[in-house]
Amino acid sequence: MSDIPEKINLSNVNSRQVDPELLNELRDLFVKAEEQKERYDFTWNGKAKAYFEAAAPTTKTLRAQPEESVNFEKSENLFITGDNLEALKLLQESYLGKIDMIYIDPPYNTGKDFVYQDNFKKTQKENDVSEGIIDEEGNRLVKNEKSNGRYHSDWLSMMYPRLKLARNLLSDMGVIFLSIDDNEQANLKLLMDEIFGEDNFIGTLIWKKKGTSTNVKGAQLSSLTEYILVYARERKNRPLNSRITLASDRKYPFTDDEGQYRTTVIEKKSTGDYDRKSMKFEIIGHAPRPGKRWQIGIEKARELESKNRFIYENDTVKQKIYSFEDRDSYSANPNLLLEMGSTQSGQDHVDNIMKGSFFDTPKPVELVKHLIRISTKKNPLIVDFFAGSGTTAESVMQLNAEDNGGRKYIIVTLDEETPENSEARKAGYKTIDQISRERIRRAAVKIGDKSGFRALKVDSTGLKEDVFKTAGDLDQVDLLQDIDNHSDNRSDYDLLYDVLVDGALEYNRPITIETMNDEQLIKYDYLGELSGVVCYFGENLTDELTRQIATLKPLIAAFKESTFDKSAQKVNVMEQFRIISPDTKVKVI
Ligand SMILES: C[S@@+](CC[C@H](N)C(=O)[O-])C[C@H]1O[C@@H](n2cnc3c(N)ncnc32)[C@H](O)[C@@H]1O
Repeated sequence: MSDIPEKINLSNVNSRQVDPELLNELRDLFVKAEEQKERYDFTWNGKAKAYFEAAAPTTKTLRAQPEESVNFEKSENLFITGDNLEALKLLQESYLGKIDMIYIDPPYNTGKDFVYQDNFKKTQKENDVSEGIIDEEGNRLVKNEKSNGRYHSDWLSMMYPRLKLARNLLSDMGVIFLSIDDNEQANLKLLMDEIFGEDNFIGTLIWKKKGTSTNVKGAQLSSLTEYILVYARERKNRPLNSRITLASDRKYPFTDDEGQYRTTVIEKKSTGDYDRKSMKFEIIGHAPRPGKRWQIGIEKARELESKNRFIYENDTVKQKIYSFEDRDSYSANPNLLLEMGSTQSGQDHVDNIMKGSFFDTPKPVELVKHLIRISTKKNPLIVDFFAGSGTTAESVMQLNAEDNGGRKYIIVTLDEETPENSEARKAGYKTIDQISRERIRRAAVKIGDKSGFRALKVDSTGLKEDVFKTAGDLDQVDLLQDIDNHSDNRSDYDLLYDVLVDGALEYNRPITIETMNDEQLIKYDYLGELSGVVCYFGENLTDELTRQIATLKPLIAAFKESTFDKSAQKVNVMEQFRIISPDTKVKVI
């Protein structure tokens, strides 16, 4: 053996033979990737389906529940019971770009949560029951356990269409807050980046939900915090309010001949860009300490010097700020929420209002109030479509009571059944929405809030399914049949809501009942010529009454099909409107 080490000849490819088959495979992979324009993508099993779920039209409508409401006619708050996907679809056109703030607290997908299954078809029912996708009653709330192979996918598929629809509702200055914990925060961030755009991510709030760690079996870290993701419809519009420290709220502990004053240190750590000589001059004969610089420039310092606004105290120069010359100061809101209630205080608060423990882990009112405060100006319209016990509604009422504000809410929650043998069931609450409405009623009494709420329920239209078929899908027999589009048990307010849904009008405007010629008219958001809806759903439509309604010149005049015994009368009504109020849309329902 030679004493000289052998030099490896790198140009000798034969010494580094690779498997030619592997090379071919790799080459194919690269070609394929190039063809597919390989790029970063966020996807999951069922995403395409979820996409169509958002786009599919709804066949639902809103039913009025005056008996479940407080001040049904005049309230401008809405409490909607039902699946929020349908509710969001029903809100789409009426509230497009009109919502100022959305807060949601969806199921966190802890492995014990029930997640709503959207992709459910009647024809699949038996199959689904056997696979455990739905229960015997056809309920779509399904326990999403971690052992489910599509555990994250199912949750993402549930959230995707709802968030897509929610975005359409937000105004240009609108903001959405989403509560979440470690189970899905990473996925929710990616989902929101896709739907709202990464550029519209404002930040993540960290909410301290409890003070001490608890021993949870198997856990290595005890989580004391939760997250709230914050996205804007348009981040560049700077929709969040600055944190204001009012001069009037400050304390001025010192007094001299000129008045009351406070002092503030004007020295700062000297680093990076600011490590400039220009910020290290002398003020009242003192230079900044080593490693420090002044916070104010030389001109400002000389001006303050001439007014005797500096003192030397504890080895540094301080500025005196008198109460008469102090200003309000503005800063960005911190993302750490330390004093915004806790899981326990939220629970205690609702238990106390309800006189029993009927709803698990409601959020504290302080937290939601803070989110409303930092994101809205005067009289916003606020939405929560995973409303649960109704904390958002109470937060709105409390804030309005504090500043005499005119905030309004639209909240949606599912009529999820309370567990059998639960405290809630024993107290007579069959479904969660019943608990929520009672919580809001009781909270309103405590707060002294008189705004009330209008209860509505997502329900089937009563329209025959054929109505949603295209002409091509209908056969001759269908076409010849006189399609009866009515479900007969609709109340007058139900009919009104069918008109509002059909006309894409807002759902939370005031209603007045008036009598004209001994007949009852429903006026909805009617403020005079070419506004609102005027409905007559009685059976005694005379020429005189028709003329009087036409003279009101509403945007929409609505009648009930059965009011017209002869089609000639329908023609007559149209003729009257053509003469008296040609711009009114006449609807027969
Ligand atoms: C975590 S809780 C919200 C708690 C609420 N923040 C509070 O303070 O009371 C989520 C709520 O959303 C409801 N929910 C779940 N899926 C829903 C759906 N598809 N449509 C409407 N509500 C739904 C659940 O019934 C539950 O009451």
